[in-house]
Amino acid sequence: MCKNSIKQNIFHASYQPFRLKVVPLQTEHNINKQTEMNYLDRNEFNFEPSQKVIEAIQNFDPHTLCFYTRIYDQGKKSVVSVRLSEIYGIPEEQVLLGYGGEEMLKNAIHYFLMEGDNKTILIPEFSWWYYNRVAGECGGSFEMYPLHETGDTFAYDVSEVIDFTNRIHPRMLLLASPNNPTGNSLTSEEIGRIMENIPSDTMVLIDEAYASFITTDIDYIAPLVNKYNNLIISRTLSKFYGLPGLRVGFAFIGAGHDQFLSYCNKYLGYNRFSEAVALAALESDEHYRRVADEMEWGRQLFYKELGAEPGFKVYKSVANFILVKYPVAIKEKLQKALADQSYKIKFMTDKGLEDCLRITLGRREQIQTVVDTIKKTLSNSPLKGED
Ligand SMILES: Cc1ncc(COP(=O)(O)O)c(C=O)c1O
Repeated sequence: MCKNSIKQNIFHASYQPFRLKVVPLQTEHNINKQTEMNYLDRNEFNFEPSQKVIEAIQNFDPHTLCFYTRIYDQGKKSVVSVRLSEIYGIPEEQVLLGYGGEEMLKNAIHYFLMEGDNKTILIPEFSWWYYNRVAGECGGSFEMYPLHETGDTFAYDVSEVIDFTNRIHPRMLLLASPNNPTGNSLTSEEIGRIMENIPSDTMVLIDEAYASFITTDIDYIAPLVNKYNNLIISRTLSKFYGLPGLRVGFAFIGAGHDQFLSYCNKYLGYNRFSEAVALAALESDEHYRRVADEMEWGRQLFYKELGAEPGFKVYKSVANFILVKYPVAIKEKLQKALADQSYKIKFMTDKGLEDCLRITLGRREQIQTVVDTIKKTLSNSPLKGED
């Protein structure tokens, strides 16, 4: 046997197809034990992944990772952008992919604010703090348009958004629908009205991270993106599809932004493991819709148990979180009572919302624990009965 064939045999002997050893996924029952913390502070997913997602992970062949994806040789970004293009009916070139919705937003804000002299972004008065941060990172400045508290909800005043945009004439206008933390959203007609009445050189970025919770309708997106080339609609697999740890976000953009697309695109393709899991998630709407429906139980419990308590107001929720106004005097006690039980919720610190809690809608027993803890803290505090 020549030296070469010995080498080859050695190589072949050690070359056993292998499978990832997958640790069994935790059942709903013991997710808590594993994480030891109930995270209800960042709008994550306290339920089970879909069976298809579990199987995609278990059946993933590690050899796939030995090579870059070659789909870019066909002029496409990823199997995921191809699938999204089919689902949403938008050309693949106009589908963007990234490391969570976070990267979609960051890329767009950095690119468009750094491109010329106009570095202003207009954002909602109460919104995800990250928008300001990203604008600041690239030397941008932000201005705010109001959101109005009406009854048990917040609302955009569409005419006012249009007026602000025309007056300030920002490089970018940010709309979030549903908005975090206020939970209010825009209809497709309202988006159309805004697009129709603002300067066409203002790039509009709509953060729809939570949109699948409010509607199954996606048919409005393609006509808007086809009509307005200054529009970007950003979505994610982190919320409705319950995969924040996967870090997959996507967006759709109007035609004619080749430079921006090349700024965002990954020359050597995307993460092939994430691609496999993302495809499975996109085929699992039924499972995730059932989970989204299950969240209604938690909403109702908040309305019923806290809605009538003095000093409280439970805002209408259309996403996977609920905003609750509470008597801040109980803040420290409540923080401690929740921490003692390994629970985290978000105590808002944003200007104007300091007396609010934002709570992720988790499993029933988690929501029950939060509600019980709030009520118990309240009954142990001298506040009770005042008002
Ligand atoms: C309003 C909003 N947009 C976008 C995101 C981005 O999430 P991800 O980067 O996980 O897709 C979040 C995360 O909490 C969010 O609240």
